[in-house]
Amino acid sequence: MIEVIPIKAFTDNYIWALVSKESVYVVDPGDPSPVLSFLEENDFILEGILITHHHFDHTGGIKTLVDKFNVPVFGPSGSNIEGISVELKENDSIQIFGQNFKVFEVPGHTLDHIAYYSEKDQKLLFCGDTLFSGGCGRLFEGTPSQMYDSLTKLKNLSPETLVYCTHEYTESNLNFAVVVNDENEFLKKYHSEVKDKRKNDEITLPSTIEKELRINPFLRLSDENIITNASNFNSSKLTKEVDTLKAVREWKDSF
Ligand SMILES: [Fe+2]
Repeated sequence: MIEVIPIKAFTDNYIWALVSKESVYVVDPGDPSPVLSFLEENDFILEGILITHHHFDHTGGIKTLVDKFNVPVFGPSGSNIEGISVELKENDSIQIFGQNFKVFEVPGHTLDHIAYYSEKDQKLLFCGDTLFSGGCGRLFEGTPSQMYDSLTKLKNLSPETLVYCTHEYTESNLNFAVVVNDENEFLKKYHSEVKDKRKNDEITLPSTIEKELRINPFLRLSDENIITNASNFNSSKLTKEVDTLKAVREWKDSF
């Protein structure tokens, strides 16, 4: 059984710690300091590092942690990330505490973006900046079509999959989602629950695929209410899901 614990970093990042007994893997350590404190406070041993994409707030801690612990660093193949020791591509898998994690290539936010998914025992997804609760990553490098394919892979995972994204963006994502999907009563109710949580500085993650299918406009591209609102924003009738994604993404970028 793997316990997953958030380590807060920067203003709104979570470095996820996968813990079994006293051993730990961390996902996307952008800053080494909170990881070192976490290990020290709990008397844990670092066993490895998982990286989802090249952005500095996900990779900035690699060097310090590897210099100190000499652990393997898993990450996307063909990327320019310094310190990756095991390069991964679509359909590769790695073992973490005896549990199999599959690798998905999920380009869109960046071209090198990968996600890690364990479907046995516990269903866990570490999706970096691809899927957020109530939203998705900005398209810094990829196309709407790439992001559409990447999100399609993730939305088809088991509904009970726990979704561990790297940022606490849920409230701002839902502030937008309730406008683009203004007839979604479940979303409105969940939005107010999230606002209450954030008032008390409570974490809103992990989410689940089941919940995201109900609240996340980027996974609800066949919802007539979203298509109508996105078409109005776009000033033309949207007929393809990928075009709706593009319009909703542009709308969110300027929201
Ligand atoms: Fe990023």
